[in-house]
Amino acid sequence: MTRRVCIIGHPVAHSRSPLLHGYWLKTFGIDGLYTREDITPDDFPGFLRELERAGYSGANITVPHKEAALSLIDEVDDTARAIGAVNTVCIRDGVIRGTNTDVYGFLANLDAGAPGWDGGRKVAVVLGAGGASRAVVFGLIGRGFNKIILSNRTLSRAQVLCADFTGKGLVAAAWSRLSEHLGAASLLVNATSLGMTGKPTLEIDLATLPPEAVVTDLVYAPLETELLREARQRGNRTVDGLGMLLHQAVPGFEQWFGRKPDVTPELRALLVADLTGGR
Ligand code: ATR
Repeated sequence: MTRRVCIIGHPVAHSRSPLLHGYWLKTFGIDGLYTREDITPDDFPGFLRELERAGYSGANITVPHKEAALSLIDEVDDTARAIGAVNTVCIRDGVIRGTNTDVYGFLANLDAGAPGWDGGRKVAVVLGAGGASRAVVFGLIGRGFNKIILSNRTLSRAQVLCADFTGKGLVAAAWSRLSEHLGAASLLVNATSLGMTGKPTLEIDLATLPPEAVVTDLVYAPLETELLREARQRGNRTVDGLGMLLHQAVPGFEQWFGRKPDVTPELRALLVADLTGGR
């Protein structure tokens, strides 16, 4: 029987997940289908409860439903609870279980793109204090980072995030004083939307960033952001955000279809072609 999975969002037409999972289904020759479901916030609770009856054995959940899903599913794992958002659900024996694979995606992308990135001093500067930053911070704590400087335009939001991880070495820093903290960093992460096509650029002076620091951007359109270009030009190792999108899909596919897929150069090329298509 065809195993069916969907991505639930509103809007959801832009999602690349069907392309990604469709590639893996074809590669493995699995009898599966991965489709889009555009569901409004009003309809979301009912849709989720009826997911199995509608023929689905799992789903990805995206904007704006990721936080709402937390209280609607039967079992939420520790990662999803800590981040406050569910992006992957799997149904077994009528029980809906949820997790958040962004943490896995963030870490696996760095492992693949900058091996050894979490060795050395383990001091990170993280820009942003939204949901994406929360996943980044949770992942870095898990890898033993003992100092994480969190800088956000709205300082109070960074302070709230620090308070949620008390005792884990988080420090909130004013946006205007960002450059003062870069000298200690072994990792710099952009988890804001700055630098994305159509958004303002991220104005940051990298002069004090140590040459061995790794720089990563969660923004993947454009693929090489201004931040990554500058960092590369001054000799820092860089890792782009497309890899996180690809890697975060791995645990979901494995849960639903029983095979662990690879993030291959061919898959990456497929996504790049889709992202840059028509331009
Ligand atoms: P996500 O869940 O993807 O992290 P979000 O919660 O909307 O999305 O967070 C976006 C991040 O980008 C926030 O850290 C936001 O800063 P504020 O908390 O001050 O809003 C940051 N951001 C967006 N536009 C920005 C801008 N023009 N300058 C600085 N930071 C910006």
